[in-house]
Amino acid sequence: MNSDLLILNVIREIKSCLEMNFPGEPGVSEVLGKLEGVQLSPEAMIRQEPQLPAHGDVLNTAIGNIPKSRFGPLVEAITAAKDHLHWRVDRGLFYEGDADIGKDYLDGNLHCVLVGSDVGVIPHDDFLLGFFLLAPRLLYRDHIHAAPELYLNLVGPSGWRFEHGEWRDYQAGSVVWNSPNAVHAMRVYDQPFFSVFSWTGDVEQMCEVTPADDWPAVEQELREN
Ligand SMILES: [Fe+2]
Repeated sequence: MNSDLLILNVIREIKSCLEMNFPGEPGVSEVLGKLEGVQLSPEAMIRQEPQLPAHGDVLNTAIGNIPKSRFGPLVEAITAAKDHLHWRVDRGLFYEGDADIGKDYLDGNLHCVLVGSDVGVIPHDDFLLGFFLLAPRLLYRDHIHAAPELYLNLVGPSGWRFEHGEWRDYQAGSVVWNSPNAVHAMRVYDQPFFSVFSWTGDVEQMCEVTPADDWPAVEQELREN
């Protein structure tokens, strides 16, 4: 299979996985509705140079941790396509340069856009779909964005809190749907965090952090344990 088809196959497998395994989950119909309008063919693709600027080992570990019993075809598709994808580290892409997002996030994030904006494999002006990775032992500080957001967690557990509330662990196969400007934060334990993510609108607006007094304590605890 050539690289175009390998990449398209990943998008098809995400779509099929959402349709087959998560049809009633909040936000899934919004994502599938957007995907309905996306032409998944080589003619629609933008070809970008494959790129993996950081965290290659972490990415391999994360993919290896995805439960094949639940996500077998998707794991195969990701494994076959990952070296052909254009992965990026967010340093000023989703946050303004002076945002207090923290060094751990800046040093520990990786994503690729499959559908969306002008960097996706398939361009789209009001939709994003891709993968998002965080390195172990870090806090992704509380933040908001105008875009409604779906996470399909491919590995677990990962810690989440909403509106600065109590932490709760989410397992592989869990779905998180964030309404516009809903505050959310994640903490990553021993294993990397790896998810499908999607923004279903307002994709041009940047993220903003929403400060919390306990960031230093949470970050310290994650580093020490
Ligand atoms: Fe988010």
